[in-house]
Amino acid sequence: MVCLGNICRSPLAEELLRKKANESGLKIEVDSAGTESYHVGEQPDLRTRDNAKTHGIDLSHIRARQFSTRDFDYFDKIYVADSNVMREVMALARDHRDIAKVDYLLNVLDSGLNRVVPDPYYGNGGGFEQVFRILDEVCGRIVELIQNNRLK
Ligand code: 4NP
Repeated sequence: MVCLGNICRSPLAEELLRKKANESGLKIEVDSAGTESYHVGEQPDLRTRDNAKTHGIDLSHIRARQFSTRDFDYFDKIYVADSNVMREVMALARDHRDIAKVDYLLNVLDSGLNRVVPDPYYGNGGGFEQVFRILDEVCGRIVELIQNNRLK
């Protein structure tokens, strides 16, 4: 799961997918990263953590890290939050195999539409719950698709 800062969208997506996979007995490894380095080493944004907590999700163990080329070697799927993140990740791709691992996260719900996960960082606070709902839905769908062997 990759966003810009790795403090709002992607850490929440990471934990939601991990939790849903665990609950379903699915053994997958999930991680998140940001394309930018501003927040490396920090916990997720307090507003993201507080909102997640209202849903019983604890994000306090996560620390921001920057996406790197090595992630292409380790992970099978790389989901990006928006078009800026897509551009940055693609700039690090070395070949068609790297490129083939990358997709917009919301294409899991609406294939090919390239919808973006809105960035709640500069908003008035209302975006955090909206982002939670979007990520909760898409992570549930990923688990379903893996279980049915239909994840593209
Ligand atoms: P994220 O949100 O990409 O969902 O973690 C952001 C966090 C920080 C910044 C931008 C977006 N920033 O500009 O510092």
